[in-house]
Amino acid sequence: MERITEINPDISNSDIKVLPLNYTGHIVVVQDCGLVLLAPTADEVAKLAQSKIISADTQPVKGRVAGKIVIVTGAAQGFGQGIAESLFTEDANVVIADLNEVKGIELANALNTNKSGNRAFFVKCDVSDAKSVEQMIEATVNHFGGLDLLISNAGILRAGGLDEMTPETFDLMTRVNYNGFFHCARAGAPVMKLQWEMNPAHFSDIIQINSKSGLKGSNKNFAYAGAKFGGIGLVQSFALELMPFRVKVNAICPGNFFEGPLWSDPDNGLFVQYLNAGKIPGAKTVEDVKNHYEAQVPAGRGCRVKDVVRAILYAVEQEYETGQAIPVTGGQEMLR
Ligand SMILES: NC(=O)c1ccc[n+]([C@@H]2O[C@H](COP(=O)([O-])OP(=O)(O)OC[C@H]3O[C@@H](n4cnc5c(N)ncnc54)[C@H](O)[C@@H]3O)[C@@H](O)[C@H]2O)c1
Repeated sequence: MERITEINPDISNSDIKVLPLNYTGHIVVVQDCGLVLLAPTADEVAKLAQSKIISADTQPVKGRVAGKIVIVTGAAQGFGQGIAESLFTEDANVVIADLNEVKGIELANALNTNKSGNRAFFVKCDVSDAKSVEQMIEATVNHFGGLDLLISNAGILRAGGLDEMTPETFDLMTRVNYNGFFHCARAGAPVMKLQWEMNPAHFSDIIQINSKSGLKGSNKNFAYAGAKFGGIGLVQSFALELMPFRVKVNAICPGNFFEGPLWSDPDNGLFVQYLNAGKIPGAKTVEDVKNHYEAQVPAGRGCRVKDVVRAILYAVEQEYETGQAIPVTGGQEMLR
């Protein structure tokens, strides 16, 4: 099987049509949406589509997510960027979805300088807006022809106790961190179900990047923890609904990513904020604050991208598990 990495998005279709072929492949034609074409060679796909194949990769692909079509929301920086880069290195086609157009396009361009057959592209998306998420899914299917792995990673953090948190900030946190995951699953699942219909052996995955704060309450950080706890409820419920279609739904619950911009940004990072707020008694430097937090982790360090990526690859490769919340916390948070 040769991998088609891009199909001309101008192909016009009528209704949804599923055309079984007399060998292993099928064509799925989705009106105004795109095509999923399966055939033994690129030439045969070109004939079937009666259209120009923009690029066909005939190199053998070896990565652990080779040929999979992956969306990572919030991929312009932080965990999302690292996840997108790592899965691209593992030969996936990756959609960088983010509000931040400048950084998102920069990342997609950087990945595409790679000579491998897979591709990345940027879609501007606000996960708190259902329409914007629908457009992200549509752009993905049009561009790559399907969706195998949807990583709902975009998230924001506004800490504060009950006497500080405004209803507006609480609402914003909920719309991005909780509703955003619902919008992604709602818009992505139909594509995955259609792929299963075409090939009942095919597995797809929805993964929420949750947090250790989705497993244990977080002092003066309830808006974040509440949305993340809610995310686990969605994961378990979506998992029950979608497993009949071989769509697995899991959460990954990382510990603190001290090296990422959320914590380490020299101007607005949490280390600087906590130092200035005097949150850690006796701390005189950013390094003191960092040491204080690292000491709380049995593994003695913060969570890194590679730790999260290993958990993602486990969830994708493991066919016999769904609805789980996988802690990646260096032992700081354990399941009961
Ligand atoms: N940083 C940590 O210590 C940590 C720990 C555990 C879990 N997490 C989770 O990991 C995920 C990523 O966190 P991070 O620290 O890498 O964040 P980050 O702030 O470094 O990056 C978040 C990205 O999401 C994008 N984004 C924000 N709102 C968006 C929206 N409405 N629509 C689309 N994109 C949006 C931002 O532009 C940014 O590129 C979050 O879900 C977070 O809760 C982070």
